[in-house]
Amino acid sequence: MNAFLEVRSVAKAFGGNQVLRDVSLQIAAGEIVGLLGPNGSGKSTLLNVITGFTPADAGEVEFDGTAIERLDAHRIVRTGMARTFQLPSMPSRMSVMEVAMAASTAHHGVWDTWLFTRGARQAEREARDRAEQLLAELLLTPVRDLPASALSGGQKKLLGIVCALMARPRMLLLDEPTAGVHPNLRRDIVTALQRLNAAGMTLVIVEHDMHFIREVCTRCVVLDRGEIVASCRPDALASNERVLQAYLGAAARPSTSALEAA
Ligand SMILES: Nc1ncnc2c1ncn2[C@@H]1O[C@H](COP(=O)(O)OP(=O)(O)OP(=O)(O)O)[C@@H](O)[C@H]1O
Ligand SMILES: [Mg+2]
Repeated sequence: MNAFLEVRSVAKAFGGNQVLRDVSLQIAAGEIVGLLGPNGSGKSTLLNVITGFTPADAGEVEFDGTAIERLDAHRIVRTGMARTFQLPSMPSRMSVMEVAMAASTAHHGVWDTWLFTRGARQAEREARDRAEQLLAELLLTPVRDLPASALSGGQKKLLGIVCALMARPRMLLLDEPTAGVHPNLRRDIVTALQRLNAAGMTLVIVEHDMHFIREVCTRCVVLDRGEIVASCRPDALASNERVLQAYLGAAARPSTSALEAA
C-alpha cells in the first residue's frame, strides 16, 4: 500500500496506564477508514497523537511523506490534516459564525494579517463565504449568531466539523461525528462525508454505530486495549474472532454479537 498516513510503533502511557502499545497503521489516499474499539481502547488517544494534541512516548507518524510526530497541532493542520473532537468545547463569548471564522484564521496564521493586509482582507472575505457555505451545509445557518457555547451537543459536533473543514484539509479525522446527532442530520453528515471523499478527501472516522460504519467505511481498523487487533472490510467484522473477543470478552459467542445484530 502507498501510505498517505503512516503510523509506526506508537506507544503512549498515562502514568501506569499503557493506553497505546506498538500501534502501526497505514492509510492510503482516498480511503474512508473506520476506527473501532470498545470504550477506553485508545481511539481518541490515537487521534490525539496523530494530530499533535498528545505527544507519543515512542513511535513515528508520517503524513504525505512528512514526519509530523514532533510538530505542534497547529503546524500539523497546515500540512493538510484536520480533526474533530469527541466532546467539542466552544468559547462562550464568540458566535457560531465567529468560531468558524476563527478556525480559518488559526489555520492561516497571524502573519497573513500583519504582513499582507490587502491579502488578508481578501482571505477574510473568502473565509466568510466558506464559513457561510459550510454552516448552511450542516444546517447551522439559523443559529449562526448565537453564542457557540449555547449550541446543543449535536450542534457543537456539527460546528466542530465546520471548523475542521475551514482548513480545507486533505485528510480529516473525526471522533464520533454522529454521536448525539438526530438521525435526519446523521444522514446529512453521511452525505457530506461521502461527497468530501468523492472530491478527494481521505477520512478516518471513530464511530460506534455499525450502520454508519457499514454504509460509509471502505475499511475498519479495530483497537483493543491499545493494540490493533483487526483491519478488515466492514462486512468481515462480525466473523472476526479478535473483534468479537474485543467487544464481548473471551467467552464471546458470535450468535450474541452486537456486531451481527447491527
Ligand atoms: N489525558 C489523559 N490523562 C490520563 N488518562 C487518559 C487521558 N486521556 C485518555 N486517558 C485514558 O486512556 C484510556 C483510553 O482513552 P481514550 O479516550 O483514548 O479511549 P476511547 O477508545 O476513545 O474510548 P471511548 O470510546 O469511550 O471514547 C482510558 O483509560 C483513559 O482514561
Ligand atoms: Mg474516544
